[in-house]
Amino acid sequence: MEKKFKTAFVCTQCGAMHPKWQGQCRDCSEWNTLVEERIIQASGRTKRREIENPQKLADISDHFLIGHKSGLGEFDRVLGGGLLTGSTVLLAGEPGIGKSTLILQAADAYSKMGVNILYVTGEESLGQLKKRAQRLSIAGTNISFINLTNLEQILSVIKDNHNHIVIVDSIQTVSSDAFASPPGTVGQIRESAGRLIEQAKKNDFSLFLVGHVTKEGLVAGPKVLEHMVDAVLYFEGDSQHLYRLLRPTKNRYGSTFELGVFEMSPGGLKEIDNPSSLFLSDFGKIRRSGAVVAASCEGNRSILVEVQALVSSASYGTPQRVAGGIDNKRLALLLAILEKRIGIPMGSNDVFVSVAGGLRLDEPAIDLPILLSIVSSLKDIPLDSKIVAAGEVGLSGEVRPVGMAEQRVSEAAKLGFKKIIFPEQNLKGITSKKIELIGVSTLENALNLLF
Ligand code: TYD
Ligand code: MG
Repeated sequence: MEKKFKTAFVCTQCGAMHPKWQGQCRDCSEWNTLVEERIIQASGRTKRREIENPQKLADISDHFLIGHKSGLGEFDRVLGGGLLTGSTVLLAGEPGIGKSTLILQAADAYSKMGVNILYVTGEESLGQLKKRAQRLSIAGTNISFINLTNLEQILSVIKDNHNHIVIVDSIQTVSSDAFASPPGTVGQIRESAGRLIEQAKKNDFSLFLVGHVTKEGLVAGPKVLEHMVDAVLYFEGDSQHLYRLLRPTKNRYGSTFELGVFEMSPGGLKEIDNPSSLFLSDFGKIRRSGAVVAASCEGNRSILVEVQALVSSASYGTPQRVAGGIDNKRLALLLAILEKRIGIPMGSNDVFVSVAGGLRLDEPAIDLPILLSIVSSLKDIPLDSKIVAAGEVGLSGEVRPVGMAEQRVSEAAKLGFKKIIFPEQNLKGITSKKIELIGVSTLENALNLLF
């Protein structure tokens, strides 16, 4: 029996159904809440569907556990070691950040491993893709490209050509005949992704969906997909800077504490094995007041980053507090701790803090390095360039322990630093022959030691 479909607009707020799209839901009066949905109309007699019997764990086939490796170390690691057959990965990021570049490079790496790939492009013409491939010096022996946006046509191409991996760039350009709304709307995205994911599981191929998010991060697309896919990789960075971070925010088959670091170059993305080299501007060469190296962590990777502060007397009115790469409120809090616990008045100073390389740091262990850089700039006393610091600073000025202590110490030692200022409580059980560990229990403690 043929299934018949009808579309309707359902309010995501109250669940009311409307035959036509309208800006405001007539039932609950909320604005912009209607989403197009496909409704199955069953007519006539329905045949009883074949249902599989429940199985014991030992009887379930584990053929899907065989993962594809690309050989691109940073990419494989973020995926949890490899790409599982039948699984779907969403690659999300702002437009222009380099998603298509990354996925094409990854496709080429898989292709070199003998994996067959179908690359469905909805955004760019085949000519444009070829141009990019030439720029990236990609051979793409086992990759077939097709320019399609119609979901039904894409599904039929997938069925006719067996591939191990299918890439859809981007999911926002795909639309189904079953829907009246234009591509990129929530209903279209959910339907297209849903049917592609279903096909991937049925036909045993791995699926990559590329999705755009905007600066606000909440554009309809990728957010509604997150719960449908097996893994979500966010590709982020700053278009002003060259580094790019690949961060899994969800992974059913691996850790979300991984981080892949790349650098965008004229010849494409390059893997960065040693991320610290990107974020330490010219450490060790010049001693400048206000510059302190922080032993920071991104996911479970340790990265050394230079934190810079500039403190100058406020010219007029309210002193300015400007933070780049760290939270503005955190900076205000740290300045309050400095005033109240150490007795350094900051009310008549402008304070600017930034993180070298444009990296954004969200972890508490950078509190101590930030405070040290502020005091260094205020007193105009440069810190020894072979010193690195890490530690969370509490409201009463105490230095609290940080996570991943050993990784931070060993990264600092590896890069040739000689001293690490560290929370006292973290030092238990850590020894190093290469770097001197200096434990501090309060901010005052640390400042007395260094200034
Ligand atoms: P792209 O992969 O098209 O971004 P997205 O798919 O996320 O929209 O990459 C866009 C930017 O990357 C573009 O501004 C140019 C830059 N780029 C390089 O710097 N080097 C390269 O080799 C390539 C292919 C792109
Ligand atoms: Mg693109």
